[in-house]
Amino acid sequence: MDASLQPIISLRNVGKSFKDGQVRALENISFDVRPGEFVSLVGPSGCGKTTLLRLINGLIPADEGEILVLGAAPVPGPDLAMVFQSARLMPWLSVAGNIEFVLRLKGLGASERPKRARALLGAVGLRDFADAFPHELSGGMQQRVGLARALAVEPKVLLMDEPFAALDAMTREVLRKELLQLWARRGMAVVFVTHDIDEAVLLSQRVVMLRPRPGRVDDIVDVEFPEPRWQNDPRTLPAFKQMREYLWGRIHDMVRDGAELEELAGAFGDLDRAS
Ligand SMILES: Nc1ncnc2c1ncn2[C@@H]1O[C@H](COP(=O)(O)OP(=O)(O)O)[C@@H](O)[C@H]1O
Ligand SMILES: [Mg+2]
Repeated sequence: MDASLQPIISLRNVGKSFKDGQVRALENISFDVRPGEFVSLVGPSGCGKTTLLRLINGLIPADEGEILVLGAAPVPGPDLAMVFQSARLMPWLSVAGNIEFVLRLKGLGASERPKRARALLGAVGLRDFADAFPHELSGGMQQRVGLARALAVEPKVLLMDEPFAALDAMTREVLRKELLQLWARRGMAVVFVTHDIDEAVLLSQRVVMLRPRPGRVDDIVDVEFPEPRWQNDPRTLPAFKQMREYLWGRIHDMVRDGAELEELAGAFGDLDRAS
């Protein structure tokens, strides 16, 4: 079989508990991610999104089921890169220094590192800030550096945990577009965690909706809009509206099934948006 058709991430009946089984974070999670695919994980807080990313990254082991990344049990390393809600840069290093640090771990020679770091910073629109220090940058710029650092390892899989959630709306909009462009150019698979349904539908080719307590897969929907989406904004399409209404409907079902309304509303913003 053609290796490119094999999933790059495969989860089968994955379960995970904390506190000696008292907290059942995830149960019976099964889905695949294809090479180069952009998949979003959506769900209210506490439904296990971060735990799922940490399992895929090999940072914590699953209690049940099987996780394969590139055909083997996941181990943290250069095939996988993680981006968090805040960039977590090293404050004592310049912006370029933060990138060069990763390039050194990757084994790049001292003479190549500055050039490569600058190219990566150029790709995220920060060419002129190579010598700045993290505290001199806005939150959005720091997130860009975090993205450049993740891309520096040339990962086959980019794992992103609510990367834009702490940014203002305009910065978020710009970075979404840049992420789509980087994804199109580099072709890595992206697993993008968000609690923003519109963001999930806007960016991804597939949305995995999770429901809480314990975290389970509620539904998986394919999103097929004309590409590239940074040129053809799908948000004006009737199909976009239908999809978001469907997903909001799933959230209302979760409420009916006993999840507390306030908890869900807190995680998703105003529930009335769906009606
Ligand atoms: N290290 C941990 N120890 C104990 N409980 C945890 C730990 N990590 C996550 N949990 C619990 O697992 C559930 C899922 O958490 P998490 O994956 O952070 O959800 P999300 O990212 O969707 O908000 C929550 O009930 C959380 O309290
Ligand atoms: Mg989380």
